[in-house]
Amino acid sequence: MQNLTGIPLGSCPTPLQELPRLSQQLGGNRRLWLKRDDLLGIGFGGNKIRKFSWLLADARRQKADLILTGGGRLSNQPLAAAACCAAAGLPLRLVLPLNAGPQEEALIRAFGAELIRVPDSSGIPAALTAARKQALAEGHHPYVIRPGAPEPVGILGYVDCAKEIAVQVRQLGLQPGHILCAGGTGGTYAGLVLGSHLVLPEWKVIAAAAGRRFAHPETLCRKALQAAAIAGYEMLLKPEDFEIHFAGGPGASRPSRKGSEALQQLAASEGILLDPLFTGKALAVLFRLNDAGYFAAGEDIILIHTGGTVSLLNSCLSRKQEE
Ligand SMILES: Cc1ncc(COP(=O)(O)O)c(C=O)c1O
Repeated sequence: MQNLTGIPLGSCPTPLQELPRLSQQLGGNRRLWLKRDDLLGIGFGGNKIRKFSWLLADARRQKADLILTGGGRLSNQPLAAAACCAAAGLPLRLVLPLNAGPQEEALIRAFGAELIRVPDSSGIPAALTAARKQALAEGHHPYVIRPGAPEPVGILGYVDCAKEIAVQVRQLGLQPGHILCAGGTGGTYAGLVLGSHLVLPEWKVIAAAAGRRFAHPETLCRKALQAAAIAGYEMLLKPEDFEIHFAGGPGASRPSRKGSEALQQLAASEGILLDPLFTGKALAVLFRLNDAGYFAAGEDIILIHTGGTVSLLNSCLSRKQEE
């Protein structure tokens, strides 16, 4: 697997944008920066685009002629997968539960994806297995991406992101501080830790876990090392290099009160929207750490905007209960 490189998807580098009014609210002369991966420019943008850049490169390397994946109703993956496969010219069969509405279905179909409907999200893994079997019987070479895209090769998308940040911090004159991202499967975070070891060794990368549980540092370290081996990086990473802070609240699939308040604070002070399930919670963790005196005075802090427009729209439409 040596010398695999991601295929270009979207507009990179994404901006590293200073948030002057929110920085002032943090106090201590700290400067807060937002890495705008929501602006990746394919579909609705977001972290999945960077993951798919490598996953689809891997699919092409394996001579796949059909991508199979799936995701829950209004989750970010189905639309990102459909948009990325369209941009890469790879056909996609997508497993989607029946509770995904006609608008979502229409958007996915607009990207040219074929849909396989299942009664609910719990049926996605079995449907993917069946879809793979059927694709093989039809003479295809399918490539399966699991919901959440946790495959180690996808992690390399966030090594790319770290490389962009390394150039931008030099250009903008940032002092080494902290980089914070939201965590679900942990792939984005593992990629950033790996990337920071390569190109941002003086920066500390921390995760804000959106759910009640999160991968252990040992698991994240093992996955990051698997990804490093795929790209041909020889490196030493230790579980102690991973630092996880839990967002608290009702779990990954529901908005939290603190996350929604953080979302509103950023929107009101900078005119930028986060999402309520991941990035809003990550900003809430950043506020909590700041209040607890975690960051040094004068520090530069970078928050990764990993997207989530689909869940933002979903929460606006359904006004789910917050805890
Ligand atoms: C908007 C957003 N941010 C962050 C994450 C977490 O990414 P990862 O699963 O790589 O930890 C997700 C996962 O779905 C997401 O949708």
